[in-house]
Amino acid sequence: MKATAVAPSNIAFIKYWGKKVEKLRIPSNGSVSVNLSNLLTTTTVEFSPKLKKDIIFYNKKIVGEGRTHKRVIAHLNRIRNLAKINYKAKTITQTNFPDSVGLASSASGYAALTVAASNAAGLKLSEKDLTILARVASGSACRSIPDGFVEWLEGNSHESSYALSIFPPDYWKLTIVVVVVGREKKQVSSTQGHRVVKESPFFKSRLKNIKKKITDVKKFIKEKNFAKFGHLVEREALELHALTLTSNPPIIYWQPETVRLMNLIQIWKQEGLEIYFSIDAGPNLFLFSKENDTNDLLKKLRDNKFNDFILNKPASGARLIKNDLS
Ligand code: DP6
Repeated sequence: MKATAVAPSNIAFIKYWGKKVEKLRIPSNGSVSVNLSNLLTTTTVEFSPKLKKDIIFYNKKIVGEGRTHKRVIAHLNRIRNLAKINYKAKTITQTNFPDSVGLASSASGYAALTVAASNAAGLKLSEKDLTILARVASGSACRSIPDGFVEWLEGNSHESSYALSIFPPDYWKLTIVVVVVGREKKQVSSTQGHRVVKESPFFKSRLKNIKKKITDVKKFIKEKNFAKFGHLVEREALELHALTLTSNPPIIYWQPETVRLMNLIQIWKQEGLEIYFSIDAGPNLFLFSKENDTNDLLKKLRDNKFNDFILNKPASGARLIKNDLS
């Protein structure tokens, strides 16, 4: 009873921030994202009658009791209940990027865990059901299961809040450069951020406009209208941070280098380089450029001492692989 899955991280164009039903992670609004080819988590899960307790390895270290331990075991329990088994599990997880710094490690991590553990347990779930299951572990993880450009439908119940692919990965040849400006672990988790946002005086007005934003971003992707797409994505990222800054208590995710790069991007745009940024709940930036402009962008980053970056293109979602981790 063993299986291994690999899952990408994803960056949301329209963000998930705020929950209608906290326990089930039913979001306050729908969201739209793209999977990232080079931010990957691989997880092997084995259920075995020989194990006396669940053992969790993360990047070669045993995860001791605490928040992550509890969250992984809660997810294994969901899967054991569905499969009607009670064997303990050994999970081995390996990532190729830093965790807890706003690079959506929980999205790729829980997507990989969901696909590996459900297959190891013998469940044969549809893609839709996998997204529903992953969503309960970490909301954004549901968007790392389908391929390419993905929409998470808000829904109003456990069954109706799920994710689906809206365009395949090769539909639009964008480059997404993740610029890592801070590798320290963030102090406030996204889960906590989702709670306190309801205190922001701007939260209600955000929700009033969100449906139009979702319709627009899908239209701009469909038309491959990079200027309109980028403008909307940047405004949405800034709106997320307007919300975190005005939450109670407020959360400041940016570092000085985040702001330096945001300002440089505006200058580079005026110089004719068409790039746009997004930021999640952390200090790091996700830059979008057309394929032809990628080399110019990388040169500008290096010239300005931003040397820690990861190049991505739109990618497939979570999938099973044959090579188990040991
Ligand atoms: C800012 O999915 O990490 O990245 O459901 O509590 O695990 P939980 O939250 P999480 O929130 C991600 C928020 C975001 C925006 C987004 O990815 O849409």
